Amino acid sequence: MSCCCPHSNSANRFFSFFAGRYRRRFEKKGFEPSQKQLMEGLQRAGFQDAEILEIGSGVGHLHQTLLEHGAASAVGVDLASKMICEAQKWAHERELDDRTAYIEGDFMELVDSVMDADVTVLDKVVCCYPDADGLVHASIGKTKRVYALTYPRNRWYVRMVMGMTAWVMKIMRSDFRSYVHDPELIEKWIRDAGFGKLYQNSNLVWLTQVYVKF
Ligand SMILES: C[S@@+](CC[C@H](N)C(=O)[O-])C[C@H]1O[C@@H](n2cnc3c(N)ncnc32)[C@H](O)[C@@H]1O
Repeated sequence: MSCCCPHSNSANRFFSFFAGRYRRRFEKKGFEPSQKQLMEGLQRAGFQDAEILEIGSGVGHLHQTLLEHGAASAVGVDLASKMICEAQKWAHERELDDRTAYIEGDFMELVDSVMDADVTVLDKVVCCYPDADGLVHASIGKTKRVYALTYPRNRWYVRMVMGMTAWVMKIMRSDFRSYVHDPELIEKWIRDAGFGKLYQNSNLVWLTQVYVKF
């Protein structure tokens, strides 16, 4: 397994800084368009009574909403400490403490201690990690039935924005980078693991896909 430690430490600082804003944005505006698509795909795949694993779970709004709509339990894994704090606080306020568990850290380092789940979700996470191959294979290995993810489309304007962001990060002496990983390769890895695509949608930036195990 490749070591992404400097990147993960910088990603922790970066996303911890934005955790409060993530929660306020959800409280004010709800899901963004790509997340509405993700919910639509998950509804088609079914998540009633399911155990959910959300990797890069942020402030928890997505899996907590799934719990409020019939999922049984959820584990959220995130490497940003403040994202985990916000998610725990929000779960408490939504009276979901007994159905949620949170693990702080890089999923790739925790993979052996994370339980398998019926439904695995990675919403805008693959693009935050250099080793997409490792992350997709490790997360799909935890998935019993449904694998749902949102990641950037491979378009020139997306690559341009990410290039500009990388430049700003470099100036700020941060090792955090975002990535446009090849969607065709990602799809191949998932299909080769025995999953078929049930749902796909997109907007200008994000590709949303939901796969179901054969
Ligand atoms: C762009 S944010 C998206 C958060 C949330 N999914 C949402 O859409 O609101 C990406 C999140 O993934 C987390 N993350 C990135 N790579 C990770 C990894 N390898 N293990 C655990 N969390 C990771 C980051 O800390 C961050 O909170």
